[in-house]
Amino acid sequence: MSESSRQTPAVLLTKEQISSRVRELVEQISSDYAGRELLVIGILKGSWVFLADLVRLMTIPLTVDFMMASSYGTNTESSGKVEIVLDVKCPIQGRDVLLVEDIIDSGLTLKYIVDNLRLRKPRSLKVVALMDKPSRRRVDIRADYLGFEVPDKFVVGYGVDYAERFRNLPYIGYIEEPKAKG
Ligand code: IMP
Ligand code: MG
Repeated sequence: MSESSRQTPAVLLTKEQISSRVRELVEQISSDYAGRELLVIGILKGSWVFLADLVRLMTIPLTVDFMMASSYGTNTESSGKVEIVLDVKCPIQGRDVLLVEDIIDSGLTLKYIVDNLRLRKPRSLKVVALMDKPSRRRVDIRADYLGFEVPDKFVVGYGVDYAERFRNLPYIGYIEEPKAKG
């Protein structure tokens, strides 16, 4: 086991802070989409805990699907080459799509997925992201709904991993800069 996966992550956002922000996001999303039906698409794997909390507070009619992208790079820098390794099962033409992402870092992964989905002509396409590290951005993309802006630290927990570990932490913590991005 590497040094980084043995650390106990220091607290950045408590579970109470997260749940109250999730509640606020749901209020905003629910009022924006009142009377509509949503297709919620989670970007695996990091968004699954966030997505589960979001949709369980929503009362508008919705369906859930998932996508998974892999980005290749060296160490903590993404190369910009992104590939969709798992795609949604349903057609999205004419649908109101809400993409759920864990964290926007360089923005390359999200930009690639958004550009790809736009080609399929959804009625609308918006992004809800739990966290954003704006200082790391390399392409012009932002979330329509954002949980938290976070500093340039390697964060884990609440679905977000380092080398597949820490996804089950109920809070968001940070660890000392590991060599590779999760
Ligand atoms: P981007 O393409 O550089 O924006 O990378 C986005 C993806 O990298 C996120 O969806 C996460 O899976 C991962 N990522 C970025 N920053 C962190 C971090 O601090 N901790 C864990 N994963 C991260
Ligand atoms: Mg990840």
